[in-house]
Amino acid sequence: MNVVIIGAQWGDEGKGKIVDYLAHEAGVVVRFSGGANAGHTIVLSGAKYALHLVPSGILYSDKIVILGSGMVIDPEALFGELAALKEKGIDWEGRVLISDRAHIVLPRYKEMDKQVDAQRRKPIGTTGRGIGVAYSQKASRDGIRLADIGDEERLCNVSDEDRAFLAKWKDQLLPMSVNTGAYLHHHKNKWTLFEGAQGALLDIDTGTYPFVSSGMSCAAGAAAQGGIGPRNIDRILGVFKAYTTRVGNGPFPTEFADDSPGSLSNYIRTTGNEYGVTTGRPRRCGYLDLVALRYACIVNSLDRLVLTHLDVYDTLPEFEACVAYKIRGKLVEDFPASIADLEEATPVLKKFPGWSEHIDECRSWEELPLRAREYVQFIEAYTETPVSIISVGSDRQQTIIRESPWIRS
Ligand code: IMP
Repeated sequence: MNVVIIGAQWGDEGKGKIVDYLAHEAGVVVRFSGGANAGHTIVLSGAKYALHLVPSGILYSDKIVILGSGMVIDPEALFGELAALKEKGIDWEGRVLISDRAHIVLPRYKEMDKQVDAQRRKPIGTTGRGIGVAYSQKASRDGIRLADIGDEERLCNVSDEDRAFLAKWKDQLLPMSVNTGAYLHHHKNKWTLFEGAQGALLDIDTGTYPFVSSGMSCAAGAAAQGGIGPRNIDRILGVFKAYTTRVGNGPFPTEFADDSPGSLSNYIRTTGNEYGVTTGRPRRCGYLDLVALRYACIVNSLDRLVLTHLDVYDTLPEFEACVAYKIRGKLVEDFPASIADLEEATPVLKKFPGWSEHIDECRSWEELPLRAREYVQFIEAYTETPVSIISVGSDRQQTIIRESPWIRS
């Protein structure tokens, strides 16, 4: 059985925790896109693990994790992350495989990434990890894949500096190389979880272009870049937060205008720990944007939603969510492509009463306060997508499973 999990907003929805939770049932976890721009946090018995390149199933000692062909891999970052895991007692040797079609991020890409973004009249605010450059090189057919590292013929156009870098990592990288499509075919009796990076609104096609990342963070990416065909996907989950955040530049219709100390924006950032795992940047905060979420449900054919950070709203007497946009006086309910439209959009907000109690110890739907359940039910009705999992805290155990994705419908 194959389950895909993607972010349904602008990234940082808490996918890492959910993948970690669901990986318990899986044999293999495949991360299919992005690179060291991503940051997935997992909290396990009080210990915090920050992952950037390594798929979130790594904390289980019996899982195989694969870095898929859609990923762009910085070997320095990867082996740094693996060394940090080792220090925390996670034995990864023999369990981390890398698609032979995955592309390598060369050191000079990172500098180019920063320079190119700084020269833009409207910078994207990239993470500076060389991601956009690596994907551009891939699209222009000048990239270096893992399969190319040992191929002298293929490296004939590569500079001495780049060759020296590749030679440094070759002996560590090549033993981890895997033909992902063949591997997954031969292990099709194992349950596999496909983990997206970033989110649907940062996808190069479905996102708020050009204020997006450069990879496929949509559900279709799992098929194109995870090593399976589209017909073999059994279920697609989209993770979203009770509110919305965004890092970097670009339109954000529900962003709070007031970010001063004591503001709601500041409260959410502090309570939800909304700081980038990769860059440490404070995240921009706003109410839940249901127009954007419904769009993510539609274009990714999400079967189920996973709601995280619901506990961040515990002490609010009331809050709002966006149910439509007003753009130049016109009511808009479908998420627009035009950046100008999104920048001019004023959210039409619906008020919800808060539940004013702590939910971090709730472990079932019935234990949640009525007003929290009513908020969830409104989201389900608006998006026409059931919310099957609710996270009420950062620990693995602080999770309410209404329906497991590992059940064929
Ligand atoms: P890049 O992926 O470094 O090129 O950055 C492009 C845009 O995507 C920037 O606005 C980043 O802040 C954003 N971005 C990239 N990765 C993530 C992520 O994992 N979470 C949230 N935003 C991200």
